[in-house]
Parts: sequence; C-alpha cells; structure tokens
Amino acid sequence: MCGIIGYVGDRDAAFILVQGLKRLEYRGYDSAGVATFHDGRIAIRRALGKLSNLENLLREDPISGSVGIGHTRWATHGRPSEQNAHPHRAGRIVVIHNGIIENYLELRAALQSRGRRFSSETDTEVISHLVDECVQDGLDLVAASRKAIAQLQGSFSIVVMHEDCPDRLVAAKSATPIVIGLGDSENFVASDIPAILDHTRKVLFLEDGEMAEISRHEVKVTTFAGEPVVREARTVAWDPVTAQKGGYRHFLLKEIHEQPQAIIDTMRGRLLQEKADVSLDELAAAPWLVNAQRIVLVACGTAWHACLVGKYFLEQITRIPAEVDYGSEFRYRNPVVEPGTVLIVVSQSGETADTLAAVEAARERGAKVLAICNVVDSSIARRADAVVYTHAGPEISVASTKAFTTQLTVFYLLGLYLARRRQLIDHDAAHALITDLVNLPKRIEECLERERAIEKIAKKYGDAKSFLYLGRGINYPIALEGALKLKEISYIHAEGYAAGEMKHGPIALINESLPVVVLLPKDGVYGKTLSNMKEVESRGGRIIVITDAPSPELEDIAWEVIQIPTSNPSLLPLLLTIPLQLLAYYIAVYRGSDVDMPRNLAKSVTVE
Ligand code: G6P
Repeated sequence: MCGIIGYVGDRDAAFILVQGLKRLEYRGYDSAGVATFHDGRIAIRRALGKLSNLENLLREDPISGSVGIGHTRWATHGRPSEQNAHPHRAGRIVVIHNGIIENYLELRAALQSRGRRFSSETDTEVISHLVDECVQDGLDLVAASRKAIAQLQGSFSIVVMHEDCPDRLVAAKSATPIVIGLGDSENFVASDIPAILDHTRKVLFLEDGEMAEISRHEVKVTTFAGEPVVREARTVAWDPVTAQKGGYRHFLLKEIHEQPQAIIDTMRGRLLQEKADVSLDELAAAPWLVNAQRIVLVACGTAWHACLVGKYFLEQITRIPAEVDYGSEFRYRNPVVEPGTVLIVVSQSGETADTLAAVEAARERGAKVLAICNVVDSSIARRADAVVYTHAGPEISVASTKAFTTQLTVFYLLGLYLARRRQLIDHDAAHALITDLVNLPKRIEECLERERAIEKIAKKYGDAKSFLYLGRGINYPIALEGALKLKEISYIHAEGYAAGEMKHGPIALINESLPVVVLLPKDGVYGKTLSNMKEVESRGGRIIVITDAPSPELEDIAWEVIQIPTSNPSLLPLLLTIPLQLLAYYIAVYRGSDVDMPRNLAKSVTVE
C-alpha cells in the first residue's frame, strides 16, 4: 500500500526522503509528500502524482533540516489529491500513516465535536489530531502517541513528528510493516527495506503492538503498553531489486503469497459476525442495488472470470437473475436495459477502456452502476453510482492474482449483504458463511503450503504443448482462469471448459501428451465431474486433479493429486485458484518466460 520513510541524522533529510520514496515507487502511489524540521518549525511539501512533481516543488520551494518523514500515498479513504496526501498536520503534530483506521468516522465526529477542524478526507488526519490533543494536555511525544494509538482500531503503521522535539521521531506498528534502519550517528525508519538499503543493511523490525522512539544515536523500542522491548538488529543480505520483491523472485509470486493478507484487508471492518451480517457503508445510498430486478456483470480478462463466479454466487444467494458480458461485447450489442437492471463492473485498475465504455453505455440507457475496483478514484470508480473497493493493494505483475481473489471476496460480501436485506438467508446460515469467510485466509495459507509439490508437478508437465482445464458450476470459471493464467505467463496453449461440455468437442484432443487439470471439489456435482475424469482417463489424458476430498480411487485415476482444504462449497473457487496460480507460475519459471511482464500484454489496457 502506501510507502513510509523517516530520517534522523545530520544530512539533508528532504533529499534522503525522496530518494527512499523512489525505492518504493514500484508499489504504486498517487501522491507524495515530505516534512522536515526547517527553521525551527515543521515544513511540509506535498504533490499529487509522480515523485518528480514533489521534486520540482522542493526545487522551487526547498526545505532544509536533517530530520524528517516522507510518504507515498495509495488512496484508500478520500480521492488522490494534494490535500489528502501525507504528511498530515494538526497543531504541533505531523503524521504519516500506512493502513486503514476502521473507526475513523467515529473518531472524526468526536474530534469535530471537540472543535477540531479537518483539512482532508483521510482517516490519517484523525491520528494527528488525537496525538495533538494529548500533547496539548501536557503529554510528551511518546506518551501522546501511545494514548492516541490506544483509541485506534484497524491496521496501521505510523510515524509522528512533534514541533517541540526536533531531534526525534516516533514510529508505531500494528499489522502493516515497520523496519528501522540503524546507521552511524543516523537512523532510518521505513515501511519496506528497499527505502533504506542505500544507507544501511542493519535493521530492526517492529512487531505488532510495538513502537519506537528514534533519535540520532538511539532507538528505544517499547510495547503499546509501555513495556521495554529488547530486540537484536539483523543484517539483510538482499540486493535492492530482490528487496523490492520482498525477497521473492518475482512480483507475481509475492502477490500470490500476499493473498491471505489482501483478503483480510478486503474484509476488514465489513463482517459483522455477531449480527451475521455484512456492513458495506458505501452502499447505504444505493437502494437500487437491493431492489435490483436483473444484474448484468461486465468486465475484461481475469476480472471477467470473477464476474462469472459472481453470477453463480449472486444468483444462488439473492435469486436475482444475472448475466455476464465482456466490456467489448456489451458496449456494441445494444444491450437490453430495463428499469431495475443494475450493471456491476469489475476492474482492478478501474481504467480498462472497454469496461469504462460499458459503464457509459449502461448509464446512457438509464441503468445504475456499481463498480468493484482496486484503484481508488480511478475512471471507472468515478463514473459509477457506487463503488466497493477491494483494498488488495497495488498489483504490479501483469497477470492478475490477488486482485482476482479479492474480487471474489467482494462478491461473497455483496451476496450476503443483498441476501440479508432481501431476507433470503437466515441468521444461522449467514453466520456459518461468515465464519467460513473469517477462516478463509488461513485456508489460503494451507493451499500455499502445497507450493513445493506444485513446483515439482510444473517441472514434470512444463514441456507440454497444450493443457485442458475442466470445472463445473461455480468452479467452471476457475478452469477458465487457470487456463488464462497459464497461457498469459508460460505461452502454452490452454483451454478451460465446463466439464460437462467436454464430450462436445475437446474430448477429441485427449491423448497421452495432454495434461488435463480437473477441479474436483466435493460439491453437488462431484460424481458428474468424476465421470468426466474417467472419460479422460480412458483416453490416456494425464490427469492433474485438485480436490478437497482425496481418495484411493482418485489416486488410481489421476497422475497427480493436489489437495486443498475444504470449506463452504461457495468459497471453494477461491481456494482452487491458488494451486492453479502456482502451477502457471512454476511452469512459466521452468520455461524461462518473463513472468512479471509477459510478451504482448499490458497491466492496464486503456485503448480499445
Ligand atoms: C489486462 C490485464 C489483465 C486484466 C485485464 C482487465 O488484460 O493484463 O490481468 O485482468 O486487463 O483489467 P482490469 O484492470 O479492468 O481488471
């Protein structure tokens, strides 16, 4: 998500901060800012857009000082703008923040009632006000930060400056990373190692619930409760490029592994376990969605596959008829839009030209539009009547992974939200599904534990000329997604098919050289899919089966069995996706293709 850097030393802080932020550019951001102690006060410079805009501003209006903080923002609350860019000041306090403060609306209202004025739309600004209130009550920087933090709910890392303490910073961590870099008469703090690697390799990581007071010669770590913490420094051996990828060989692999956390971030603050309900405040002003007569789901690429899963799930749980179309088809087919038709568009980037055109086509015909997007305030998000953000964080690799699984997560939340409001699901059934959703990140971790076994399978089948993927029902789109992932990054021809359709064509392709990946969850169509598998077996196909119900019978039929944990059948598409991503990734690595930037593909397709 956002990038954080802080510096305490004798050198030109603004220069070091901007250089550090440049090392975090790969994470994606929409605005940036720095603050330093300049002529006895904290001076702030912020700019919308690229870091070069901030650099130009600093050239025109420089700030001196050898202590300061810097930030690149990836919008979550409030659109990308100079006003919403960090650092945020309140009184004598200046803060940068990474993560989400879940209770910021309540905190903001309480602060406003105490006479505090806000100058941004961000959740971050409440932190600077809370710390400033405590400072005004006479607390020192550390005690004030500690007292403010005690009021925050959510995931955050922050760095705080106090105008009366020009020689130190306070950093705190809950959930999102903070690393402290130890130098010679200078110290650093950052959200990620690459930001400080040019200066030191000696680092110290804060754990959740810890804070640090950082000055030139000392770093004092304590818990949020004030207990002292003794932590040994570590030396990182990473080169700058590996460091950007968090130690992973490719961004794609990093993003595959980020999925448990990304899904936690998607669900954060939205699941009401006790009430067996889902809270989506962004839909409070969208009664048209609850009353929809028909839903048309539109997207491109991987997001289109998310729509297919969405159709199965929404129809099942809300009984609203749903259909799916490509952006490029919908816009030109003179679509039927009647009163009560709602368009749901799904897009990671929010900039895909065909999806955006579909939004316009639907609006012209009077439909209301809900967008499911990752990038805040993107073109599609701005044109839609309502937006549910996935909060997956920046996705760098061209092939989409965590964006896809977080889009599925939003469909689960949305389905439950609508079903509860249409009184189609009772408390117990909703509660059971919510419990399964809460456990989903753990189940994904278990899928990721199959990595080494899948790598071996990838090497064994990586020379195949073609692959067939089969699935049924809600998992049929996952067969399509598995095939798409493989062709995108390994350049092997791959087809996804509804298992029941195999006999109408693809069966002609099956021979001893064709790997056939079968998705075989223990759901209502298990027996049917098993029969399809036997049809493949009798024609010599090399079956790789992915299942939550392994058995000796399967071991006899399949060449490979990849086991995934079991869950609610509606959630299995998400779990089945993980081994398919890993299989495609390791086959691509085996074949030596450019995994993160496959030939001819673009991350965001802004032309028709
Ligand atoms: C491109 C990307 C795909 C993505 C598709 C839709 O083709 O390579 O990974 O699924 O665009 O992108 P969107 O940003 O709208 O989800």
